[in-house]
Amino acid sequence: MAPIPTRGVVAVTGAAGFLGGWTVRTLLDRGYRVRACVRNAEDPERCDFLKAMPGYASGRLTLHSADLDQAGCFDEIFKGCHGVAHISHVSDYNDQDYVRRTCDHVIASVNGSGTVTRVVLTSSVAAVISEMDLGEVARRPVFYEDRYPDELNPKRTPERGQGYSMGKLVAERAFAEAAEESGAWDAITVCPGDNVGPVLSAHQRNMGPWQSLIARMLEGTCLQNGVYRPWMTVDVRDDALCHVRLLESTEVWNGERYIAWSTDKRNVEDICADIDRLLPELRHDTPGVTDTQNERIKAREAEFRAIWALSDLRNDRMKAATGVEFRPLDESIRDCVESLIAVAGVKVKRREEAAAAA
Ligand SMILES: NC(=O)c1ccc[n+]([C@@H]2O[C@H](COP(=O)([O-])OP(=O)(O)OC[C@H]3O[C@@H](n4cnc5c(N)ncnc54)[C@H](OP(=O)(O)O)[C@@H]3O)[C@@H](O)[C@H]2O)c1
Repeated sequence: MAPIPTRGVVAVTGAAGFLGGWTVRTLLDRGYRVRACVRNAEDPERCDFLKAMPGYASGRLTLHSADLDQAGCFDEIFKGCHGVAHISHVSDYNDQDYVRRTCDHVIASVNGSGTVTRVVLTSSVAAVISEMDLGEVARRPVFYEDRYPDELNPKRTPERGQGYSMGKLVAERAFAEAAEESGAWDAITVCPGDNVGPVLSAHQRNMGPWQSLIARMLEGTCLQNGVYRPWMTVDVRDDALCHVRLLESTEVWNGERYIAWSTDKRNVEDICADIDRLLPELRHDTPGVTDTQNERIKAREAEFRAIWALSDLRNDRMKAATGVEFRPLDESIRDCVESLIAVAGVKVKRREEAAAAA
């Protein structure tokens, strides 16, 4: 199917979010016309940063209120668009029927547009790697695009924390099948890793969750990651560029999925210590790690860490299709920290304050 034309029109859902905001900015920088879809375009806290982008002043960027929970909300917005970057979260990943219904109405709006030729859908590496039994990671340690979690595991249920991974797969399949049926547009899936990088607006401090965890580190709390999984990261700016390049590419085909990550992986305690290594001027009082996992998981820490250490992260397909050069994680951490302080007003717990308090 046709990639989007140069200077074409692209709708971005979830545009006030961390990745959505960077995707809007990347599209504008590359000359596109952007329809930024947010839940409430009149909310200054979430939308002022979009309105401050230079493209808004000229009208190349427009904002549109649309709540995914209302069928038909994108009907008018998508008319005249060439591409859609469907980045938004949904309200509840645990209800698979609801997820499917939201997909169906977004698909109906794409079909009804008469102009959209490509949809890039944001899934997650959770739809690649999230296993109920970590033994499955030991058995299949290569994390690449055609890897799926063990979907036949009977414990793979929303009640046991798999709703997000399951919901993302529902969406991936719904879009690929609908595009195939339509023949007028194609659906390409992006599975991003853990997004780290600069926030564009103060409200994004509490989203993510990775930037919000870094904010908490700055303030003095470092939380252990679930089942000791290291962070498997992508810079949010590179992730946005991956989305845009996939809208532009002549080398991609309906139903394909691409993982967006740098292949860097780092344990949370090292990320926390990196703040002082990368920005010694901050005199950050590096906190110890708080591990809130249950005793059963804690008892298997060494086993779980060994499994993750052998996991093999691949981004060959994304690099070949888009040519994106992924930033090193050090750069993402540094820029994330500086933006959290400068943009979001996060107060750093410094060594001298800790010493004075003691
Ligand atoms: N961050 C990561 O590390 C990561 C990793 C893998 C995949 N992803 C995927 O990437 C996408 C963006 O993630 P993010 O971290 O940028 O998220 P985010 O900052 O939380 O932004 C998500 C946006 O989704 C919108 N949204 C939520 N429910 C909605 C609804 N019912 N109707 C309309 N909009 C709704 C929100 O819009 P408003 O602000 O307008 O209310 C919000 O701005 C998600 O699909 C996520 O699953 C993220």
